[in-house]
Amino acid sequence: DSIWAVLPAAGVGSRMQADRPKQYLPLKGRFLLDHTLECVLSYPSIEKAVVVLSEDDPYWPDSQFASHSDVIRAEGGSERCHSVLNGLCALEGIASDTDWVAVHDIARPCLRHSDLDLLFDGLGDSGAILASPTRDTMKRGTLQADGSVVIDHTVERDQLWHALTPQVFRLGELRTALERALADGFEVTDEASAIEYAGGRPRLVSGRADNIKVTRPEDLALAELFLSQH
Ligand code: C5P
Repeated sequence: DSIWAVLPAAGVGSRMQADRPKQYLPLKGRFLLDHTLECVLSYPSIEKAVVVLSEDDPYWPDSQFASHSDVIRAEGGSERCHSVLNGLCALEGIASDTDWVAVHDIARPCLRHSDLDLLFDGLGDSGAILASPTRDTMKRGTLQADGSVVIDHTVERDQLWHALTPQVFRLGELRTALERALADGFEVTDEASAIEYAGGRPRLVSGRADNIKVTRPEDLALAELFLSQH
C-alpha cells in the first residue's frame, strides 16, 4: 500500500512569543519547516506530502520546498484537526482509502528516518503512532481555592506514554473517524484520539525522545542541538 504524508502547518504558535509562526523561525540557516519537509520528502516510501497552510501565509513562497513536485498545498482550518481533515481531503482522487497516511506536526523538525522505519514496520490493523514512555514520576494535581495546586496522588506511570507524531492510519478510516468525532463534539487532541473514539486500537511504537515539538522559545536551541547530531 502507498504511504502519503499530511503535515499540518497552519498554526500561529502563540506560545513561541515570536514575530512569526514557529514553523518559519530560522533554524540552522533555514526555516524550521524546511528541516521537517526534508526528512519527510527524502523518505523513499512516502509518495507525496500535503502541507496544510493558513490562507494568508506570506512566508511559504520562501520555503526551499514551495515548488517541490511532491508537495501538495491545502488550506488550514480553525483547529489542528480541521487542518488535518482538509489535508486528507486534498488527497482525494490521488490516494485510495486503503492507503496509509502519516500525519506529522510540521513543528517536529528532528524526526529521523530510523523512527519512520520503526513506525512503518510496527503498523497494526488500526495503524500506529510514535510515542515515548514517560520518564518522570507523574502526579495528579488538584487546584485549591487560593490558586495553589496540591498533589492529589501519584499516577502509575508504567503504562503512560507521550504521544508524538507521525501518527499513521488508513486514509479512509482516519477521515471517517475525524468527521465523526467532530460531528459528535468529541475533543480531538491528536489523530489517534479520533481513531480510539471510533473503536480502533492503534499501536504505540517507541520512538526517540528528541523528536520534540518546538513549542516554547527554549525549544529552538534544543532542536538545533538535536539536528546537529543527525
Ligand atoms: O500548536 P501546536 O504546536 O499544538 O500545533 C501542532 C501542529 O498543528 C503545528 O504543526 C501547527 O502548525 C498545526 N496546526 C494547524 N492548524 C491549526 C492549528 C495548528 O495546522 N489550526
